[in-house]
Amino acid sequence: MADDLGLPILPTSVPGLTLRPLTVDDVEAYHELIVRNREYLTRHGDYEEMKVATRESVARDFEGPPDWNLRFGLRLEDQLVGRADINPVDPPRYSIGYWLDEGATGRGYMTAACAALIDFARVRLGATDVFAGVTHGNDRSVAVLERLGFCAVADFERYTRFYLSLHADQG
Ligand SMILES: CC(C)(COP(=O)(O)OP(=O)(O)OC[C@H]1O[C@@H](n2cnc3c(N)ncnc32)[C@H](O)[C@@H]1OP(=O)(O)O)[C@@H](O)C(=O)NCCC(=O)NCCS
Repeated sequence: MADDLGLPILPTSVPGLTLRPLTVDDVEAYHELIVRNREYLTRHGDYEEMKVATRESVARDFEGPPDWNLRFGLRLEDQLVGRADINPVDPPRYSIGYWLDEGATGRGYMTAACAALIDFARVRLGATDVFAGVTHGNDRSVAVLERLGFCAVADFERYTRFYLSLHADQG
């Protein structure tokens, strides 16, 4: 299956949970999701842009993205419950970013979504290395990455860098 951008819809190991490319059709639902989660998303000092995001700024970002991220909305059946991106930092090296509706946490959804995204990156994009940065104190995000097999590789003032090798000889 593929959407009109040519990106595939990615199934996950959780029944009814899929990653679908985020498009201008998602502006309304995505903005509502941000508004519901503003406080939750910004509690570690991340996602500052969410504090001021409007329907218009979301639409602008989706129409003319400020980066080269492949952007996926996480959907439980038809409901948008989060977002996961893969960023072509320096192919075949990629990084991931993700967030979940607070009401959808605690059920393994993001771990399943990131596993599907990483598999897509390995098989379809030829990714060999995946990185993620986690702000100090964001233990739930660290737990997601550890479940996926990432290891901490560098510490910076505000965040820790995590790394997962996808090189064939390391499984
Ligand atoms: C980071 C974030 C996505 C983690 O959410 P999460 O719900 O903890 O992660 P998952 O969806 O993978 O769910 C894992 C939880 O479900 C539980 N779970 C239930 N079934 C599970 C399954 N089959 N597989 C894995 N975990 C399962 C786990 O035990 C865990 O709960 P616990 O922390 O109470 O032990 C979420 O906290 C978030 O969006 N935070 C704000 C944005 C953010 O920080 N993004 C990351 C920036 S680096």
